Amino acid sequence: MTDNRRQFLRFFDSRPAVDQPPNRCIWKCGAACFHTAPNEARASQAFEHVLNRRMGRRAMLRGAAAVTAPFVLAATPVGRALGLESPLAPRRADAAVRGTGLAFRAIQLNQLDRVTVPTGYQSQVLLRWGDPLFDGVDRLTSANASKELQEQTFGYNCDLNAWFGLPAGQRSSSHGLLCVNHEYTEGERMFEDYDPDAPTRAQVDVELAAHGMSIVELRRTGNTWGVVRSSHFNRRITATTPITLAGPLAGDARLKTSTDATGKTVLGMLNNCAGGKTPWGTVLTAEENWNQYFGNNDAVTNSTQKALNARYGVSDGATSRGWEQVHSRFDLAAEPNEVNRFGYVVEIDPYNPDFTPIKHTALGRFKHEAATIALANDGRVVAYSGDDERFEYLYKFVSRKKYDPNAPRISHLDVLDDGTLYVARFDDDGTGTWLPLVAGQGALASWSQADILINTRAAADELGATPMDRPEDVEVNPLNNRIYMALTNNTRREEADVDGANPRGPNRYGHILEMTEAGGDMAATRFSWEVFMICGDPSDETTYFAGYDKSQVSAISSPDNVAFDRTGNLWIATDGQPGTIDRNDTVFAVPTGGPERGHLQPFLSVPKGAEVCGPEFNADETALFVNVQHPGESSESPDAPQSVWPDGTWPPLPSLVVVTKTDGGRIGT
Ligand code: FEO
Ligand code: CA
Ligand code: CA
Repeated sequence: MTDNRRQFLRFFDSRPAVDQPPNRCIWKCGAACFHTAPNEARASQAFEHVLNRRMGRRAMLRGAAAVTAPFVLAATPVGRALGLESPLAPRRADAAVRGTGLAFRAIQLNQLDRVTVPTGYQSQVLLRWGDPLFDGVDRLTSANASKELQEQTFGYNCDLNAWFGLPAGQRSSSHGLLCVNHEYTEGERMFEDYDPDAPTRAQVDVELAAHGMSIVELRRTGNTWGVVRSSHFNRRITATTPITLAGPLAGDARLKTSTDATGKTVLGMLNNCAGGKTPWGTVLTAEENWNQYFGNNDAVTNSTQKALNARYGVSDGATSRGWEQVHSRFDLAAEPNEVNRFGYVVEIDPYNPDFTPIKHTALGRFKHEAATIALANDGRVVAYSGDDERFEYLYKFVSRKKYDPNAPRISHLDVLDDGTLYVARFDDDGTGTWLPLVAGQGALASWSQADILINTRAAADELGATPMDRPEDVEVNPLNNRIYMALTNNTRREEADVDGANPRGPNRYGHILEMTEAGGDMAATRFSWEVFMICGDPSDETTYFAGYDKSQVSAISSPDNVAFDRTGNLWIATDGQPGTIDRNDTVFAVPTGGPERGHLQPFLSVPKGAEVCGPEFNADETALFVNVQHPGESSESPDAPQSVWPDGTWPPLPSLVVVTKTDGGRIGT
C-alpha cells in the first residue's frame, strides 16, 4: 500500500456517512427536489440530479448569446492589472481550440462494479495481472505465482501508459508498443496465504517481479485490439532489472553499496507511477513512493543520512511490507546507501529490448509523479515533474543540450544528464518564478550539486518554493503550450495556510492549475498562472470559500493523471472519488479553450474500489488506453470484497483496458 493509499483509506474511514433527516434534500440543492430519503439509492439519484442540473445549465448557456463558462475560474485579476497578460501569454490561441469536437453523451457517475463508457463506445480488457506476455507462457494466478512466471507476465497495479507506433518513428495507430508501469503490489490480494507481518521470500520475490514496467506489442484488427505474444519487443522490467545511474550523482560515495562499489548500477525501479515520452522515442517513468520499501532508519548512524531519509518518509523500525526481513538491501541497518539509489526519473528505449534503463539523477530525487517533456524555443529539452506529497513542490529541468530531430535517436540518451533544475514559487499576484537549484548560488552557496540532487526537497526549502496540495501529473496543451498541473488534495492544509495557488484549507477535493511560461518559451524563468478548476461536491458547503461560489465548483474529486487530445481537450483521471464524493473514479474530458472552456464531461468510470490511471491515446486517437488499478480496494476486510472485476471472481485483477468507438471513430467525438 502506498502512502497515498493509506491516506486515502484513512479519509475513507473517517468520512461521515450520508445521514440526513427525512424529507430534506441530502444534497442541499435548495430546489424542489425528490431527494427526501437518506438511503443509498436516493443518494445516487440525488448526485446525478445535481450533475444533471449542471449539465442542463451548460446546455442552456451554450445556447445563449453571451455566455461565461460556469465551471471554470476567471483569470487572476491582479495579474492582469499588473499588465502581465500580454508578455506572459504569447500564444493564447483560443481561436484554435474553439470547437473542441467533444460530442459524446456523458456517462453518469456511478458505483457499478464494471467499466462504464458512453453509448456508442466499447471497452476491452487487454491484459490482466498475470496474463502472459510471451508465447508458451502460462497464466500466473494466486495459486501458481512464482518469480520466474511473474517475470514473463503482466505485473500488478498498472499505472502509466505510453504508446509508441511501429515501425519505430511512425505515427501508426493500429500497430505499436505500449509501455505500462506497475506501481506497487498488495500481497494481501495477490496470495491466499499472505501474512503481512512475515511475507515469505518466495512471495516477496513475486512482488519484486510484479513491479516495474511491461512493454508489449499491440495490434488492432478491425476494431479489436490484441497482444502480439510472439513479439521480440515484449519485455518485463522489474525491481531487480539492472539499471544505470547517470548524471551528477552517478558514482557518488552515497550511492555505493556492498554489492556495487561503482555507485553506477542499481537493481530495479520502485513505485513507478506516471511518466512521459521524449521526442526521440523513449519513455520516462517516475519513481514515486520509494520510501515505503526501506526500513530501520532508526539504526542509521550517519545523522545527515538519517535526516535525509526522514525528510522523504522512510520509516524507523519495520516497514509494513516487511521486505527488509528477506532482502538486506531494504534494511538500512545493513545497507544504508541502497535507499539513495531510488527516487529518480528512469528512461527506457522501448524499441530496444536489450536496452539498459537509465536513472537520470540530474532531475532530482523526490517522489516523482511524472516527467512531462516540452521543448524550449531554442530546442533545449524541458521536463516538468511534481513531488506528490502534501506541501511538496513542482519542479522543471532545462537541459543544456538541444534536441536534434536529424540526429540518431540514441544520441539523445544523455540530454537529461546535464542541465538546470528549478523549483516553482507561485506568487499571489498570478505570477511565478522558477528558482534555480544550483550549487553555490544564493541560499545554496554552501551546497554541492550532489547535495542538492540527493536531497532535493531540503534544497527547495532553502529557496522558498511554494508548498503545494500534492502535485500529481502535469501536461502541456499541444495547441498553445499552456501547462496544467493536477493537485489532487491536501486534507492537512489549514485555513490559515492557504495561498493563491492553494486556495482552500482543508483541500479535500483538489484543483487544477494552468500555467503559461513567459514569452511562450518553456525554458523561461518566469510564468503566470491561474486556477483552472476547483474540484468538489456541489452539495458540500465546505467546498465553497471566500472568492469562489457554487457555480465555480466542478463535480469531480481528486484529479491525478491528465492527458491532452490534439484539439486541446484535457482528459482527467481521478484517484479518490469513492472516498470523497461516493462515486467510482472516472475519466472526464474538459475543453481548455473556447466557449466550452471548463465544461466537464464524464467519459469513463472504473469498477468499485479502483483508481483509473494512465489515459493515453494512440496516434489518431481512435483508441484510449486506461489502467484499472487496485479494483476492490476497501477499508473493509478482504473477506468482504467489494469488487470481483474483471472475471466475476475473487481476487479482482488490476488490468489494462482499451476503449474504442463502435464506429471506429475518434475518441470523444
Ligand atoms: Fe502514484 Fe501520485 O500517484
Ligand atoms: Ca498518480
Ligand atoms: Ca499524463
